[in-house]
Amino acid sequence: AQTMKEEDKLYRYNGVLYPIIMSPPENLKALEGLEARSDDVMLVAYPKCGFNWMVAVLQKIIAASAGLEKSDSKIAPLIEFYSPEVQKTISNAPSPRLMGTHLPPKDFPASFSAKKTKMLVVFRNPKDTAVSYYHFTNKNPVLPTAKSWDAFYSDFMSGEVAWGSYFDHALAWEKRMDDPDVLILTYEYLKENLQEGVRQVSKFFGFKLTEEQVKAIADASTFNAMKESSKDSHGQMGNVFFRKGEVGDWKNHFSEAQSKQMDAEFEKRLAGTKIAALLKY
Ligand code: A3P
Repeated sequence: AQTMKEEDKLYRYNGVLYPIIMSPPENLKALEGLEARSDDVMLVAYPKCGFNWMVAVLQKIIAASAGLEKSDSKIAPLIEFYSPEVQKTISNAPSPRLMGTHLPPKDFPASFSAKKTKMLVVFRNPKDTAVSYYHFTNKNPVLPTAKSWDAFYSDFMSGEVAWGSYFDHALAWEKRMDDPDVLILTYEYLKENLQEGVRQVSKFFGFKLTEEQVKAIADASTFNAMKESSKDSHGQMGNVFFRKGEVGDWKNHFSEAQSKQMDAEFEKRLAGTKIAALLKY
């Protein structure tokens, strides 16, 4: 990835950009055949909305409910990173399988809706998401380095970034706001109410944890706790995934004009929707 030309790092599949190294077309093609189960634990998030945070929370919930001290999950978090061979081993993995994706809902394997697989969806306000994504794309060798913040901001606004348009994802989830198999939580809510969030997530997926277990999981899942153990969980990428962990960092990056333009786009695309109320910033 280090020696690849920046412009070759993303390619288009079904109209959306993906990183060629991690999600080549054969992975995405093979996903069509992924057999979901009704007891899969599915985590969905647009990039940089708090995916790794909730992976850790879900791993801990699953481990605690099985009486394990530590998660023994060997499943890689994103289904679009599975090679066709890895997908075969996933099909034999014991339940409950923890899986995740950044895919837009229109491109989910069909079996997820057929099986009514429960999905936790994490969202974050679009301004902090864009800032987090900017730093990430510059530090992650499989994604293109941005020419500048302004250039990245433009690409983000037009959806010309890996996994596509933030606004398209938000609109797709708007349609499922009242779906009992979908729980939508925001980064901002989780920052304020982590313990309550852990309780809700655990209950939603049908796990039965004691209040002590819920509290222990929340305590171990704060930004600082996770950053400290990030060498173990994410190796060299630890510092890249656990950057700042705050709400409102956009104020350090957005110009007045960019902030106004994003507010206008947010209005234009999402005004009056239920999800807009969740994503207020
Ligand atoms: P920042 O870049 O704003 O710091 P994802 O996992 O979806 O890629 O999202 C990454 C973002 O979530 C980063 O945001 C990261 O710091 C933040 N994050 C990771 N773990 C967190 C935690 N336990 N609490 C709060 N934020 C966390």
